[in-house]
Amino acid sequence: MTTSTISSDRVSRRRDVAPLLSIRDFVVEYRTGSGTTVRAVRGVDLDLYPGEVVALVGESGCGKTTLGLGLLRLLPKLGRASGSVTFRRQDGSEIDVLELKGRDLRNFRWNDAAMVFQGAQSAFNPVLKINSQMADTIKAHDNSSSKEILERSSDLLRLVRLEPKRVLNSYPHELSGGMRQRVLIAMALLLDPQVLVLDEPTTALDILTQRSVVDVLHEVRDRTGVSMIFISHDLALAAELADRVATMYAGRVIETGAVRDIFHRPRHPYSVGLIKAVPPIVGDLPDLASIPGGPPSLANLPSGCAFRPRCTFATAECATTDPALEPVTDEPGDGHEVACLHYEQVHLERTIVETVPIIPTEAQL
Ligand SMILES: Nc1ncnc2c1ncn2[C@@H]1O[C@H](COP(=O)(O)OP(=O)(O)OP(=O)(O)O)[C@@H](O)[C@H]1O
Ligand SMILES: [Mg+2]
Repeated sequence: MTTSTISSDRVSRRRDVAPLLSIRDFVVEYRTGSGTTVRAVRGVDLDLYPGEVVALVGESGCGKTTLGLGLLRLLPKLGRASGSVTFRRQDGSEIDVLELKGRDLRNFRWNDAAMVFQGAQSAFNPVLKINSQMADTIKAHDNSSSKEILERSSDLLRLVRLEPKRVLNSYPHELSGGMRQRVLIAMALLLDPQVLVLDEPTTALDILTQRSVVDVLHEVRDRTGVSMIFISHDLALAAELADRVATMYAGRVIETGAVRDIFHRPRHPYSVGLIKAVPPIVGDLPDLASIPGGPPSLANLPSGCAFRPRCTFATAECATTDPALEPVTDEPGDGHEVACLHYEQVHLERTIVETVPIIPTEAQL
């Protein structure tokens, strides 16, 4: 495990500066073939601070990819975003991302923010060597010389622990899955973005390769200072890489806080369920529990809290109130917020975390 690379002051480093990215009341709707609309992201507030890694976790279909695509203005044609996304450049100027057009929008997408797409390993052009694919990306945005392009590409490949000579002269099929994923990370960094959104960058990889990609991402963050939104349904990897976690359920962030608060003191019944469902890697499985039922259809959400039908804490009030994300006030936390009327009754029994050795212990965090 790589907990040695987790620094204990990760959260405090963001205290005295403004967020790099502020997302407010963010909503994404998709128009469907039948003319109806589906609200895939339903009013998300989230800040990303300089140099910070925020993990976005939650079950399949909860809106993680949609949120990532939406905030970089990369939604498919039938998707529409509203609310506000403010990006703060280093010179102090503020950009209203949802208002950007034409050239300004293209610049934002690469120079300010970039995305490593879910399942993108298969999106390489199979007939072009990696050097052409990297050069094309740079040439599309600036007029660097061939020498500069080669230097920049080589530096970034080294940063992601690949041997530039060999990789630049390879076709995508000549590289392993883990190598292709690292090339994608290097390509996303070509224009030196401040924000990197990584959508399930480890999902198709075996467990050892997953660890090496997480190690690489640690190093990328430490060496470049880039801020990351790390989308994953793998809680253990999120715990290793992130400073903060935002748990999504049915299009909303229902809990957010420092890694140690979310993994050791979760206060939303859904977060508790997610953590309890992580299998221990040694010993019996007596405490392993899944969350009953499945996520609701976005086209037909229950009234009040969307988690209510699966929740053992639900009361009549939960059917009429969809609680807002509010600070946890009954214990000290680091920006810990939860959207649950009954969070004061919700606690994770410590024994469960202790049987899950792949999640770092509180002392390691
Ligand atoms: N292009 C689209 N048109 C219509 N609905 C869509 C479209 N893309 C996604 N959706 C719907 O939006 C919801 C959120 O999807 P999204 O892909 O953002 O979830 P996710 O959390 O990334 O899931 P996964 O973990 O499987 O990647 C889903 O209900 C999905 O069916
Ligand atoms: Mg997704």
